[in-house]
Amino acid sequence: MAATISTARARTYATLRQSDVNPAGRRWRAFHLTVLGAGLLAVALSSVDHLPHALERILTFIVVAVAGVFLAEYAARLWTAPESTRYAGLGDGKARLRWALSANGLIGLLAVVPAFAITAGTVHADSDAAPIFCILWVLKLGGHAPAMGTLARVISNERATLASVFIIFLMVLISAATATHFLERAGQPEQFGSIPAALWWAVVTLTTTGYGDVIPHSVGGKMIGSVVMVSGILVLALMTGILATGFSEEERRREYLRVWDQVIKVPMFTELGTVTLSEIVSKLRVRHYPPRIVVVRRDEPGDSMFFISAGEVEVRLPRDSVKLGQGGFFGEMALLDRLPRSATIVTTQPTTLLVLYASDFYEIAAHIPSLVGAVEKEARRRRLENENATKGDLQ
Ligand code: CMP
Repeated sequence: MAATISTARARTYATLRQSDVNPAGRRWRAFHLTVLGAGLLAVALSSVDHLPHALERILTFIVVAVAGVFLAEYAARLWTAPESTRYAGLGDGKARLRWALSANGLIGLLAVVPAFAITAGTVHADSDAAPIFCILWVLKLGGHAPAMGTLARVISNERATLASVFIIFLMVLISAATATHFLERAGQPEQFGSIPAALWWAVVTLTTTGYGDVIPHSVGGKMIGSVVMVSGILVLALMTGILATGFSEEERRREYLRVWDQVIKVPMFTELGTVTLSEIVSKLRVRHYPPRIVVVRRDEPGDSMFFISAGEVEVRLPRDSVKLGQGGFFGEMALLDRLPRSATIVTTQPTTLLVLYASDFYEIAAHIPSLVGAVEKEARRRRLENENATKGDLQ
């Protein structure tokens, strides 16, 4: 009995996890997003005045139903919290408490506040307080953005550089506000009478927003304004550059780990030794395919070869077909012979492939002759097998 409960808990945890690639996880995420979308739409619509009574009742029902789903989700997440590797070694109660106090736990709790408020009768779903639900629920959207974690990591990795740019921003801001306060306070005491008042103009100008509600009139003020505007562009460009580079670095790191996870499933690679392996990992790309997808079509030109790290493919040759499983490879003949594809290749089950593009293949051929030697040997065997099959047909 206890075993059944713990299996059910592990399964529920896996389904609720954002990174879960199983069909159940995908279905849950689609359902959650639909419910969230419906909830946000209903709350937004219910803030419109003079809606027909029937529509108001439908919207109220939707808001209550959505709040109910979030309540159930919160309970399920609380129950399954001990399954998380993050809380490994903690007791069930402690793991749940830690989850409840985490950012996700608090967002989950805030999202169920409407459910409690409505059921307790404190708030009506169509009351003026309803828009607040929108703000609470919109936080849940963050869970559907896988790049959120990446963004947090990028900001943390680049914090020193970002802080330097921010300090430059503050320096320009404060000096511009102080200087314009000196130059403009006599002419425009209301807008530039104090440094805090002049700061509003400095922020609007430095961020290149430029509402135009406050404008310096003196020549000196205008000159400072010009410098601030140009500095604003520079600061924004610097921020954008730092974040964009950080993002691409982080993505490269993640891709490297993704590839590494798959590469270790292919014996041909693991035999190579760590140094050579890490050289290859940077050249491979991971691709996931559902069943019955054509990966390579006969007679088409080939620009890449594939290693199977999971699943199975069917090689459809003109006369017969062969199955290739985990650890196998295909697509090498077109690269070696520089000829069109000799067969059509279709996945028979969910399959993960590691793609090696032609230019990288030729580069590897020069560096790692043992790997390419093994590929060439198998290609020779396949060519011979295909030739024999053709000859057999002709006789
Ligand atoms: P390529 O010709 O680039 O594209 C089709 C691929 O099918 C081919 O490379 C080989 O990798 C693979 N292939 C061709 N013949 C055979 C065979 N007899 N057995 C296994 N795989 C084959």
